[in-house]
Amino acid sequence: MCGIVGVVGQGEAAPLLVEGLRRLEYRGYDSAGVATLVNGRIERRRAEGKLSNLAGALARDPLPGRTGIGHTRWATHGAPTERNAHPHGTARVSVVHNGIIENHAELRAELEAEGQSFHTETDTETVAQLLDLHLARGASPEKAVVETLPRLRGAFGLAMIFAEHGERIITARRGSPLAVGFGEGEMFVGSDALALAPLTRRVAYLEEGDWAIVTPDGAAFHDGHNARVQRAVRLTQFTGAATGRGNYRHFMEKELHEHPMVLGDTLRQFLDPATLAVRMPPLPFDPASVPRLTISACGSAFLAGHVGRYWLERLARLPVDIDVSSELRYRDPPLEPDGAAILVSQSGETADTLAALRLLKEGGQRILSVVNVPESSMARESDSSVLTVAGPEIGVASTKAFTAQLAVMACLAVGMGRARGHLSLTDEQRLTAALLEVPGNAALILEKDEEVQRVAASISTARDVLFLGRGALYPIAQEGALKLKEISYIHAEGYAAGEMKHGPIALIDPSVPVIALCPTGGLFEKTLSNLQEAAARGGRIIAFTDRDGIPHLSRFAEQVIELPRVGQFSTPILYAVAVQLLAYHVAVLRGTDVDQPRNLAKSVTVE
Ligand code: G6P
Repeated sequence: MCGIVGVVGQGEAAPLLVEGLRRLEYRGYDSAGVATLVNGRIERRRAEGKLSNLAGALARDPLPGRTGIGHTRWATHGAPTERNAHPHGTARVSVVHNGIIENHAELRAELEAEGQSFHTETDTETVAQLLDLHLARGASPEKAVVETLPRLRGAFGLAMIFAEHGERIITARRGSPLAVGFGEGEMFVGSDALALAPLTRRVAYLEEGDWAIVTPDGAAFHDGHNARVQRAVRLTQFTGAATGRGNYRHFMEKELHEHPMVLGDTLRQFLDPATLAVRMPPLPFDPASVPRLTISACGSAFLAGHVGRYWLERLARLPVDIDVSSELRYRDPPLEPDGAAILVSQSGETADTLAALRLLKEGGQRILSVVNVPESSMARESDSSVLTVAGPEIGVASTKAFTAQLAVMACLAVGMGRARGHLSLTDEQRLTAALLEVPGNAALILEKDEEVQRVAASISTARDVLFLGRGALYPIAQEGALKLKEISYIHAEGYAAGEMKHGPIALIDPSVPVIALCPTGGLFEKTLSNLQEAAARGGRIIAFTDRDGIPHLSRFAEQVIELPRVGQFSTPILYAVAVQLLAYHVAVLRGTDVDQPRNLAKSVTVE
């Protein structure tokens, strides 16, 4: 949420800042801006809307200067106008910020009483005005930062430049991630390593409470008590080339087509095709004796965790509590003394998930995170982490990272089922064999593109859409609804099919398409009855099923799409691909901004 980039270097900063922001635009795209130091003065260019507007403004009116900061905004306080666009500041200092300064109103009142005059409605400007007050009283930039940071409540990643102190950026972190990139005679700051990928792969992360002075020759890191500290420089796996759109119309389309590869890469970490055994990653708890597991996450990652719960309870007979992190963190749940927790996150930076992680850790739980970014805050703060190998995901709505999360949860469930003595060797081999077929089956689903497009055309003008599923397909029905809402702006609900008659059935009429996820096996008959109840009330049923389900469904469904016939276990992963593809095509037909849907951000680093 909000992207930050900074450059102290040898050449012109502005083009590098814009390139960095382009890679961060997935974090927010309400407005963008850059500020550079030009002969001891701070100069800014800012623009409302997408980054292309800022790039246009810079083309018309270029910004020189070798030191600069840039920002792409996801508005929290203050409308997404040019006036509220970052960087914010005064003649002395300029600031970009990711996060929320919770005590901004109190600080603003105090600063106004001191004679500081504000120009925006943002919480961020209070940081700039506080710094300015200290600078005006003769403090050095370092001293101003040391005085300012303890006054701020809430979360922040900050990058600051100072008019009279060229060739330096001061950066600070509390809650929101920040990386410092090391170049040759030039240095960079970014809210994630992806922003820095074309510039350098050598990166050090600020730890919680850290601040750092970044100059062309290096960085001096300080902890929350202002003591000098060293932070390890790592090589990130991101490369400058990794984020192209190729020949696809949208990143989301490209990322959907990466499902088979990503699933293969993720599963390969855990499955031995020769022996059909699951190779368990090192776990921070003993799966055989752990009494209880808590799973928490946000958005689609939560839904992956929810499918994980079905698998873990069924295959490993392990009691699982699951909740969205924004609730769990304030719920004060009773925790088992020897319990463990799994946190699921693509970015590894989602503010609520990170807070839930910390709460669970303080509550004595052993923490395993399932993340896509190995250097992320969650990976670093967990007792151990398991990686999804999805590569950078740029489309704001999660696709390939979601199915990779499912793949990890499936492997963990089988491995833990074995460790707890609830699965036999034959069960393990059968389930492993099913998982090994998933990448190939995902490719078959992608080949259904035209058929899915026809379904998309038939629902693209609907006002409401209902997705129904049972068991582990219930969270996938919710994923289908979430994706449709996110990128096509059609109201959609994902419901447990059996629960439909307790409410949503009242919505059903011929204008409400009902998308049914109903593979044969398991609860097929029961789902079929639920769908007939909907059809009897004039509902338009569109069913995803397998070959054996077709004769049953085609009796009353308007459209039936055949998906590969696989065992019950792996259906959630495959049906997820189908519902995501459907949402994509509906969004394309409606002409929405598929990769950057309105009001959303990919990495939600504020609560
Ligand atoms: C945002 C994204 C979702 C994602 C969720 C959790 O809402 O738009 O696609 O599922 O955040 O993000 P995480 O990085 O923790 O998986």
